[in-house]
Amino acid sequence: MRFRTIPSSPADPLRVVLVGAGSMGRAWLATIADSPEVTLTGIADLNVALARDAADSAGLPYLPVGADAEALARQTGAQALINVTVPEAHHPVTSAALFAGLPVLGEKPVAENVSRALSLAAAAEVTGELFMVSQSRRWNPQLAALRGMVARLGAIGTVSTAFFRSERFGGFRDLMAYPLLVDMAIHAFDSARFLLRAEPVTAYCQSYNPPWSWFAGDANATVVFEMEGGTRYVYNGSWCSPGGITSWNGTWRVSGEKGTALWDGDHEPVLDAEVDVSAPAGPPYSGIAGALQVFVRALRTGELPSGEVHENVMSLAMVEAAVQSATSGRLERLDDVLERAHAQALRDETRPDVRNALARWPSVRDRLAGAERLGML
Ligand SMILES: NC(=O)c1ccc[n+]([C@@H]2O[C@H](COP(=O)([O-])OP(=O)(O)OC[C@H]3O[C@@H](n4cnc5c(N)ncnc54)[C@H](O)[C@@H]3O)[C@@H](O)[C@H]2O)c1
Repeated sequence: MRFRTIPSSPADPLRVVLVGAGSMGRAWLATIADSPEVTLTGIADLNVALARDAADSAGLPYLPVGADAEALARQTGAQALINVTVPEAHHPVTSAALFAGLPVLGEKPVAENVSRALSLAAAAEVTGELFMVSQSRRWNPQLAALRGMVARLGAIGTVSTAFFRSERFGGFRDLMAYPLLVDMAIHAFDSARFLLRAEPVTAYCQSYNPPWSWFAGDANATVVFEMEGGTRYVYNGSWCSPGGITSWNGTWRVSGEKGTALWDGDHEPVLDAEVDVSAPAGPPYSGIAGALQVFVRALRTGELPSGEVHENVMSLAMVEAAVQSATSGRLERLDDVLERAHAQALRDETRPDVRNALARWPSVRDRLAGAERLGML
């Protein structure tokens, strides 16, 4: 997919509006302040006092703030928008920005469900503006090193992630039906796609809540994905597992034909195999700073970035497939999850141009996974 490019440089940085002044919004504020590639023109939040406070705390008392992101972007001459609102606001904020002629870098998840995510992919096609999702952990240099090792292990049998933590959030997560799957597991699912350079085919999930859990919904989940080529990816996790906690990335094991690669999620991965052990260098950036750098570079060059909306949707589809399997008790095919979401998107779409674009897709999987996008995985 082609998108409109915007020339910029440290001498002429990209002008951006930040939308969402919550906890992650403040992390983005610090990242934007540190980057010579971008300059902040304003902060939008429905809670304008929060936006004002965020600007003041960053030493920017004269920075314009407002409740309406698109209006603020127009008033301040912004060229792009960074969407760090709650997941339910990702679709309305990003869609309005794209149709106002603003490319968007958005926090994960792409939208609150796959149907809304497909609508945003079609909106990017209709407007010709770039929409990239910041799936921050994909920029971890240790993950990139693990990926280099995986490429040398021959055929891969099994990849597993163990994620065991004991977290007392005390907010919305404590009330969600599937807090682990919906709020956290997408990071690991996205990393599995990236490691294997392969897409998911089926999902089987058991989601449950241990007797001592302080969460209302299921704090534990075990999911088995069959990936293209037959590799099984197994995710086993818990939010309420006191003792022996893993890193925030979880503990990874990749078992291949020629050996095994291990990663504790915090340190360099280790290869136990009779193959060349020199790991290729990872990217020279990480986390959301990496996502920002890649976004600005993509706008400059027109090169499709990793995390472009079409490529990112499948990570959210893995979450949705796991939840649907947990509910139905059956193995779910990713193609069925995608087709149901597509039908829903066609029913819900209020913009005729986006609806027409969605209706023209030959198949959702084909549309999401063009040859160029598989190269980005
Ligand atoms: N990459 C990561 O590791 C990571 C970590 C934490 C959160 N996140 C993601 O970041 C996003 C924000 O999370 P958070 O923890 O900062 O949430 P938060 O609730 O602290 O902040 C969200 C803010 O968005 C504002 N908002 C909601 N709707 C809006 C709208 N239509 N227009 C303008 N502002 C609006 C709210 O008023 C709130 O201040 C979520 O998508 C979350 O999943 C990512």
